[in-house]
Amino acid sequence: MKKFLILATMAAMAVSCTFRSGNNGPAYLNPEAPIEERVEDALSRMTLEEKVAMTHAQSKFSSHGVPRLGIPEVWHTDGPHGIRPEVLWDEWDQAGWTNDSCTAFPALICLAASWDKDLSYLYGTSIGEEAKYREKDILLGPGVNICRTPLNGRNFEYMGEDPFLSGKMVVPYVKGVQEQGVAACVKHYAVNNQEFQRKQSNSVIDDRTLYEIYLPAFKAAVVEGGAWSIMGSYNLYNGQYNCHNKRLLCDILKGEWGFDGVVVSDWGGTRNDHEPVVNGLDIEMGTGTNGLSGPAENSYDYYHLAKPYLKAIKEGKYGTEELDDKVRRILRLIFRTSMSPKVQYGRFVCPEHYAAARKIAAEGTVLLKNEKNALPLDVKEGQRILLVGENAVKKMVVGGGSSNLKTKYEANLLEGLTNAVGEKAQVIWERGYVGSTATTYNRVSTGQDLTDNRTPEELIAAAVAAAADADHVIFVGGLNKDRHQDCEGADRYDTDLPYDQQGVIEALAAATDHLVVVNISGSPCSMPWADKAAAIVQGWYGGTESGNALADVLVGNVNPSGKLPFTIPYKYLDGPIRTERQYPGIKEEGSRYWQTHYDEGVYVGYRWYEAQDIEPQFAFGHGLSYTTFEYTDAKADRKAMKKGGKITISVTVRNTGEREGAEVVQLYIADKEASIDRPVKELKGFEKVFLKPGESKKVSFTIEEDALSWFDADTHAWKAEAGTFQAHLASAADDTRAIVEFDLK
Ligand code: BGC
Repeated sequence: MKKFLILATMAAMAVSCTFRSGNNGPAYLNPEAPIEERVEDALSRMTLEEKVAMTHAQSKFSSHGVPRLGIPEVWHTDGPHGIRPEVLWDEWDQAGWTNDSCTAFPALICLAASWDKDLSYLYGTSIGEEAKYREKDILLGPGVNICRTPLNGRNFEYMGEDPFLSGKMVVPYVKGVQEQGVAACVKHYAVNNQEFQRKQSNSVIDDRTLYEIYLPAFKAAVVEGGAWSIMGSYNLYNGQYNCHNKRLLCDILKGEWGFDGVVVSDWGGTRNDHEPVVNGLDIEMGTGTNGLSGPAENSYDYYHLAKPYLKAIKEGKYGTEELDDKVRRILRLIFRTSMSPKVQYGRFVCPEHYAAARKIAAEGTVLLKNEKNALPLDVKEGQRILLVGENAVKKMVVGGGSSNLKTKYEANLLEGLTNAVGEKAQVIWERGYVGSTATTYNRVSTGQDLTDNRTPEELIAAAVAAAADADHVIFVGGLNKDRHQDCEGADRYDTDLPYDQQGVIEALAAATDHLVVVNISGSPCSMPWADKAAAIVQGWYGGTESGNALADVLVGNVNPSGKLPFTIPYKYLDGPIRTERQYPGIKEEGSRYWQTHYDEGVYVGYRWYEAQDIEPQFAFGHGLSYTTFEYTDAKADRKAMKKGGKITISVTVRNTGEREGAEVVQLYIADKEASIDRPVKELKGFEKVFLKPGESKKVSFTIEEDALSWFDADTHAWKAEAGTFQAHLASAADDTRAIVEFDLK
């Protein structure tokens, strides 16, 4: 017996030695072996129980590895703007670590507003490095749901209203993250465009709209970006929950797009036992089964893809085909991340990341209006600059739902501007209005008590009195990360500025004719007061370096080059969403579900305003600079494009002002002879060019048939019809500088 034990121990030691001996060991441990070989080898060694374990959570933010084989657990983290602070094993509450204050990068809507693909790559690599340092395998982001309604509480986490812009901006982010050995998890797939009743809302949408507007950015992330994971959304489509939606996951994502990565459920998005097995969900996370609230010893065992799944397999209800597919995908992700041959360690809260955050925040800032040379501020020795408004001091990285972060610091505009002007001038602050005084969001403390017992009249009077003594007056307002503003879980009620900020703006405008308004928001806000302001800046949630970046733009250290990633209408009802059917949807008697009808079809954002000839307050793609640009010599390299061919459209852009600056040259295509109703024009190219004063550059766009196509639901294919097309070379959707006509033969 003793001899047997010794032999058994020796054998076990031999196995563990070979497991660690690199090339001579099992293929799954051999970093040089092709991934698929590693996957098959690992799979062949796993028990049924080990396989099932991999398909569901083991804690709030992790899912199982295979301990016996030394295959690590998978650690997930929000996302998408920074690395979430550690939470307790089983709770949303923070774990109270002291080493998890991250760099908060600007909200994704700000990144989109930069229209700069290189910056998106910088964002991706930087946040990927932070995730790696914190030993995370899946970053829960980026988000690319289209801004269908300005009311959506999560617009700030996404990339605006246009599928092409979102699609082009998401790809470098995904690549940047994944090059660090961290999987991007693109969310929330799909047609998830409102927070209202997000778990009860069924999106009713036609195929053309689905393929033309709501899927392209996801497709780009998967096909061009090579995303290793994707998160299903809470809502339903086609009457089926999206975390186990056959059409979205099996037919489109894994079928049409050939996705070989992992589908992760949104937290609590898995709704029954059967569909997740057969409809393409790979890892179930965050389910509030009985186990979570009840007395079960290990609640995670009660997830749909845990005991019930194992039991069903054992009873013969399912074979192991689906399970093996799920496990293969999860193993693939592990071999791409924690067990990747490329050894990476990442880095965290370093000067490079702060610099990246600042650059992105500044480049995303959009100068909407600038009259009377109000900006950049011409600050003279000994002057007084007055900031009025809560958003000049409010902490914004805390709040907003799951994108909520904990940072070492967050520079607000009061600090940023004070840093920027130094001893030269005095920066003072007046409250103006009382907005959100919450000191805690999502169990993260803002460290700020903003209570103020003055009446609105007293606050306005104090601001106006301060304005009388000031050389520059800047109102800093907008939205915040409170519920019913830019926040997960609820939508806004309307597009007006809350807390009667309009009253404050009007009072200040009466006191100075050089009023600068800085609107901080992640969604479009109506600006009926716009005429009263000399300058308007659209800022965003800029993260750690927010105030420094905004100050860079206000004082002119950075020349603004951001462009709106969405349309700002004069008023909400100018927009495409006008009926209850469209939003928030209709709940029929006796039904648990809200039917949200995408009746506007492809006419979302500028596509709507242009088709209806409704002038927006600020158009999609609009954004001014402190310099000016001239477009000349627009041409095509041929008169006609052949089917299956290409055409190159070019234009020369010159900086005609006295400062260096950057222009986003936008290419829109108009189909003049379509057999169906098509938008007046659609974005099909953009390039950001940096120009010194007097410098010019030629910008070229080579397009193929896909840029001319629409999705024909009858044949389930993209269709480009012969005829005349126009290429609009534009500085904004409403500012075409040159048109080049060509034919498709
Ligand atoms: C959100 C996701 C997030 C997840 C984990 C969900 O409520 O919708 O975006 O990644 O929680 O925090």
